[in-house]
Amino acid sequence: MKILSIETSCDDTGIAILDVHTTKKAVDFTILGATINSQIELHRTYGGVFPMMAKREHGKNMIPTLTSSLLQAKLIPKKKVAHTIFTTRQIQKIRDLLQRENDLVDPFIEFITTTSKPDIDMIAVTTGPGLEPALWVGISTAKALSYAWDIPIIPVNHMEGHVLSILASKKKTFTYTKDTLVFPLISLLVSGGHTEIVVVKKFGDYTVIGQTRDDAAGEAFDKVARMLDLPYPGGPEISRLAKEQRESVLSGSLTDRVGGSREIFQQKNIRAERKYTPSESRGIIFPRPMIHSGDFDFSFSGLKTAVLYYIRDNGPLDKDKKKAIACEFEDAVIEVLTHKTLAAIKKHKAQTLIVGGGVSANTLLKDTLIQKTHAYDKSIQVHFPTQSLATDNAVMIAIAGYFHSHEKKAIKNFRSTIKANGNLTF
Ligand code: KG4
Ligand code: ZN
Repeated sequence: MKILSIETSCDDTGIAILDVHTTKKAVDFTILGATINSQIELHRTYGGVFPMMAKREHGKNMIPTLTSSLLQAKLIPKKKVAHTIFTTRQIQKIRDLLQRENDLVDPFIEFITTTSKPDIDMIAVTTGPGLEPALWVGISTAKALSYAWDIPIIPVNHMEGHVLSILASKKKTFTYTKDTLVFPLISLLVSGGHTEIVVVKKFGDYTVIGQTRDDAAGEAFDKVARMLDLPYPGGPEISRLAKEQRESVLSGSLTDRVGGSREIFQQKNIRAERKYTPSESRGIIFPRPMIHSGDFDFSFSGLKTAVLYYIRDNGPLDKDKKKAIACEFEDAVIEVLTHKTLAAIKKHKAQTLIVGGGVSANTLLKDTLIQKTHAYDKSIQVHFPTQSLATDNAVMIAIAGYFHSHEKKAIKNFRSTIKANGNLTF
């Protein structure tokens, strides 16, 4: 079975094509093609993602992204040939299905009339959560392709995609068997729009036990990065500065400022130890919001405000101050995420931890969670997505689509009322 998947929930236009081979014992996945067109450069100019701008970019990028993945998969020839197989009425129908997408309709008609139907069995598309105008571009494309190629559509929850992203490996092929994951599992989902802890009893059975009451973790990284004049997206930038801070302390170049605590930093795994973080030694202490709230909810807006006030009262910012702020901010976020995730693992007796979403690319989060989880129980499996699949991509949408492909109720066609749902929950 070949699945073509479409992801347009935020600022990445993703198309992937996966071949899925099912046997009695295993499911073998092969990535035949995968393309991501990122809008980061554009959004960087404005310091964040504006939904209508994202929508326009998805519209412009959709056909080049689709063509690239189909070519990688060798499912269409390099040379375009005119295929006048569609009647005027059918072309009109395609236009109707794409009526929301001004930037897409003409390139789509040109694509569909010059490309013969590829060997694809179904389309998986993200329907939410995310930015609705952006989601619609993917959904309209899925419907138009479903009509033109006469194949079904599977709507996919973007967050389920992030959970399942860990099944993929760096390699083009990967296998899922009943032993791959031990249930129940806890999933920490941390992205630009979400911060939630989910109990997964089995695929398809998700219970959100905690979530952010205000900003998402990734959003907090992005906002603090803006305060520090760092480009969008802020997560990787903050991490880079924080790492420099830790390394300066370790190498001794900050000895005069950190006093005698250098030896302590040199201890193994010290990055995870709050008491001795390098930034604190420079006198910055930010709050760890809700860390002892006793539930699994989060709040990051107070932390963001603490950073704002610190900058106001301690400006102007030089590189050293930025590094120290980034370091203490990152420590604070990671400490809260780690504390609550571990509490959830303990309470639900989870055998497996899955971390997903853009913030899962954070190496401090990864190192700390692995260390703390294994300090609690070495037998718990901890899964992070491979780096390139941590942020939004279509491969994870195809995987999630596959796991729903046997449910009749999940399969639709172009006539269906599949809609974008910006607030889609589990
Ligand atoms: O999952 P994702 O690609 O998009 C959403 O669905 O939101 O996540 C994007 C978020 C951004 O807020 C970005 O700053 C954050 O993930 N991010 C990171 C890192 N890499 C990306 N946050 C912290 N550390 C990172 N290394
Ligand atoms: Zn995401």
